[in-house]
Amino acid sequence: MSYGSAYDPLQSNHRHQVYGNEDPAFNQSTGFITPARHAKKGTSNWIKFGIPVAVLVIAAAVVGGIVGSRHHSSSSASSSSGDSSAAAAAAASSASAKLSQGIFVEATNSFYMIPVYPSVTDTALFGTPTLNAASKTWPTDTFAPAAPAATSVRPDRPRLIAPQYKWDALPALIASDPYMASWNESIFSNASQYDALPAVKYFMDGDSGILDVARQVKQRVKAFGYVYRMTNDTHWVDRTWEELQNAAGNGTVSWGPDEDRWNSAHFLDTAELSAAYGLAYDWMYDMWTPEQKSMIISTLNLYGLGPGVQAYTNASDFNGWWKNNIQGNWNCVCNNGLTMASLAILGDDPSGNAQQLLGLTVDNANQNCVFAVSDDGTWSETADYWYFGSTGLAEMASSLMTATGSNYNLLKTNPDLAKTGLFHIYGTGATSLFNWGDNGPNKYTATANSLIFYGDQFDQPQYALFQRDHPWNMFWYNQQSSGGWWDGLALDHTFTNFTDQWMSMRSSFTDANALYVGVKAGTLQGHQTHNDLDVGDFVLDAMGTRWAGELGDGDYLSPGYFSNDEQNSQRWMYYRKMTEGQNTILIGATNQDVTAKPTINFDSSNTTQTASTEFTPPSDSTAFFTTDMTSAYFNATSVKRGIRLLNGRKQVLLQDEITASASVQWRMHTNATVTTSGTSATLALDGKKMDVSLLNAPDGATFSTSDAVRLPTDVTPPEADQPNPGVTVLLITLPAGTYNLQVLFSPEWNDGSTPVTPPSVPLDSWTLTSHSS
Ligand SMILES: *[C@@H]1O[C@H](CO)[C@@H](O)[C@H](O)[C@H]1NC(C)=O
Ligand SMILES: *[C@@H]1O[C@H](CO)[C@@H](O)[C@H](O)[C@H]1NC(C)=O
Ligand SMILES: *[C@@H]1O[C@H](CO)[C@@H](O)[C@H](O)[C@H]1NC(C)=O
Ligand SMILES: *[C@@H]1O[C@H](CO)[C@@H](O)[C@H](O)[C@H]1NC(C)=O
Ligand SMILES: *[C@@H]1O[C@H](CO)[C@@H](O)[C@H](O)[C@H]1NC(C)=O
Ligand SMILES: *[C@@H]1O[C@H](CO)[C@@H](O)[C@H](O)[C@H]1NC(C)=O
Ligand SMILES: *[C@@H]1O[C@H](CO)[C@@H](O)[C@H](O)[C@H]1NC(C)=O
Ligand SMILES: *[C@@H]1O[C@H](CO)[C@@H](O)[C@H](O)[C@H]1NC(C)=O
Ligand SMILES: *[C@@H]1O[C@H](CO)[C@@H](O)[C@H](O)[C@H]1NC(C)=O
Repeated sequence: MSYGSAYDPLQSNHRHQVYGNEDPAFNQSTGFITPARHAKKGTSNWIKFGIPVAVLVIAAAVVGGIVGSRHHSSSSASSSSGDSSAAAAAAASSASAKLSQGIFVEATNSFYMIPVYPSVTDTALFGTPTLNAASKTWPTDTFAPAAPAATSVRPDRPRLIAPQYKWDALPALIASDPYMASWNESIFSNASQYDALPAVKYFMDGDSGILDVARQVKQRVKAFGYVYRMTNDTHWVDRTWEELQNAAGNGTVSWGPDEDRWNSAHFLDTAELSAAYGLAYDWMYDMWTPEQKSMIISTLNLYGLGPGVQAYTNASDFNGWWKNNIQGNWNCVCNNGLTMASLAILGDDPSGNAQQLLGLTVDNANQNCVFAVSDDGTWSETADYWYFGSTGLAEMASSLMTATGSNYNLLKTNPDLAKTGLFHIYGTGATSLFNWGDNGPNKYTATANSLIFYGDQFDQPQYALFQRDHPWNMFWYNQQSSGGWWDGLALDHTFTNFTDQWMSMRSSFTDANALYVGVKAGTLQGHQTHNDLDVGDFVLDAMGTRWAGELGDGDYLSPGYFSNDEQNSQRWMYYRKMTEGQNTILIGATNQDVTAKPTINFDSSNTTQTASTEFTPPSDSTAFFTTDMTSAYFNATSVKRGIRLLNGRKQVLLQDEITASASVQWRMHTNATVTTSGTSATLALDGKKMDVSLLNAPDGATFSTSDAVRLPTDVTPPEADQPNPGVTVLLITLPAGTYNLQVLFSPEWNDGSTPVTPPSVPLDSWTLTSHSS
């Protein structure tokens, strides 16, 4: 499929074939990098082309941006907000600082839109991250009820996320802020693209339902609604109507079965379509005829809110399983969709569904959704589901705030919710996410956009500055955030909750070539069946390439894929989910024990990055993470793993101490071409090389390789595994015994640095200085 050709959801619905975040238009008007379809080993492509382009964009912004905009920014800030002149001056200076920085381009053909940072040593440009609370971006909302209630809505429209006073302020904000200008541009451009396509086609994707198409409808409604409100061009109202009618089964092509067009058995779909209907109803309220309004409401009640009431109130209706103690993305997304739709039609709804649901969804989300974040900020379902769940929660809180004047403690009930930005920041490596468990590319309406909202709500400028993409920013963005989000931020962070226990270590936040290690232990149950059997798993980035990586999710439609997380679950028969498919130790060719309770130890030199995007850590800067993962294994009396950075964060040592009564295998998955010779291996990828050596090798221990496929002794899963083309497993295979395996990774940096050979130190004696020469 080529760019610019019509995007056909029927052709490309499966998550592994769709990269919804790739926006062919993004580059046309803004000079963003030309995206290329993600190839098998494509992550590094953008790095080769990306940096020169990034510098150009920054330079262009510096030259083109400042001129003629300063006056606008100061006058708009003072006239639209009525703030004091000091605040207006602060706003102007923040805006001009940002104009002189320009915008960070994104690597649009990487899976996760990793930003590309310019090489800038002028630290004045990227100082301490700040949110200037004294001069808020937005004028003050005059709707501020003394006793807010979820069923008592603001008098004017729109109610959802973007009240009229925000639309009124937008033109001046867009004129004074390069980010807002680029987002505005990109929403217009997206809307034109969607406009040229036929209405979203119904496609039932087995167990994944119609979620992808539901999210496409929501995405289109958002874009069309935005452009309508910015232009008053009724074309966009008509085009929205076409999508609404189509998703009601009233279009020219069919949409699902009469009795359940929004697929309530997979309630996420119902919820996302409800949200889309709610947004359309609310944002274009004045344009709908009375007849259209009643058609929207009747369809919404029939396929969305009616099933929502059933899910909540009918004990024999199982479509609402997600409301019963499910602390994960389902709860957030389902409650959000029902909430947005109910807020939109409240007062016009003859059925009473909206009123009834608003009495249920908010409490339920407060008991469940908000606790998907554990006490260290980790989203317990994996990094991928953080996108969906945190977006759902942010949309819900934001909609309630604008429509009713409160979020009813959704952002406070779990005091650790405020840490969830750290989960995303530290889980983002130099080239990709630390994407353990089920993970695919992020797409459609589930994005990291909510960080902008959380950054503002939790007064965390780092979050707001870290994430700079996507449509809700037009209403969530606090323009007064400025500085480099990395300035003063610790390079390492450990997430210690027993559920995930993971650590992130790196040499720089702003260098795409940086060294990055993500490593995890954690429990293997209680992740909404989205995890792998992966205690001890790690990823490794260096020189712009991922050297040790994840295989991501399997086929969600495979029989038994989501059966359960018991030891004998069919899920654990699939290569990508079983222990063999992870970068860890395999004992007795058998999966890890799902009841594992690993313990961890760690330390860090606590090195923080400075304002400069060019940052070299001191030579004694280091970090390590060790885990006693014995409880994850059968037929082993002791299994410990440790990983640490060496040589000023230029090398990595991975050490395993094992006593096992069954065979032992050390496994690592790589896209590199691997050459082995006894106790050394050379990995070659994207024109770069990594030397791997086994130090103090036990008798008989050498490197070998295999394809990334199940061992012949494994049981055959119900459906064939997905192939892992281009992936090689680097192996050390040994009989039962006691071993100390020390594997040293030495990237060939070609920067004049000399690799070191560390001493042999037992894991229990590792300290920050145990390996210094
Ligand atoms: C434009 O569309 C792309 C791809 O569908 C999406 O990732 C991006 O967020 C959209 N941008 C805006 C500003 O809506
Ligand atoms: C938003 O982008 C559109 C399309 O490029 C442009 O016509 C419009 O003027 C922009 N809006 C503002 C307020 O700059
Ligand atoms: C759209 O119409 C409203 C109400 O008539 C008006 O206030 C606003 O200025 C118009 N916007 C544009 C972009 O024409
Ligand atoms: C779709 O058609 C049905 C049956 O005529 C009608 O009840 C419903 O209101 C329509 N909905 C929309 C959005 O067109
Ligand atoms: C409750 O749900 C069951 C199963 O879907 C359905 O058969 C029944 O009619 C529902 N009861 C009511 C009162 O709606
Ligand atoms: C870990 O987080 C969970 C929520 O996911 C929480 O229930 C638990 O108390 C936390 N554990 C510890 C040790 O704090
Ligand atoms: C191989 O490259 C792809 C694309 O960049 C990446 O998603 C995957 O994690 C890599 N696999 C391994 C085993 O490193
Ligand atoms: C690093 O910070 C952690 C957490 O604040 C602390 O426990 C540890 O002692 C610090 N280590 C050093 C070497 O400063
Ligand atoms: C442990 O090893 C014994 C002897 O080799 C074998 O029979 C048994 O299946 C192994 N247990 C597991 C869970 O792998």
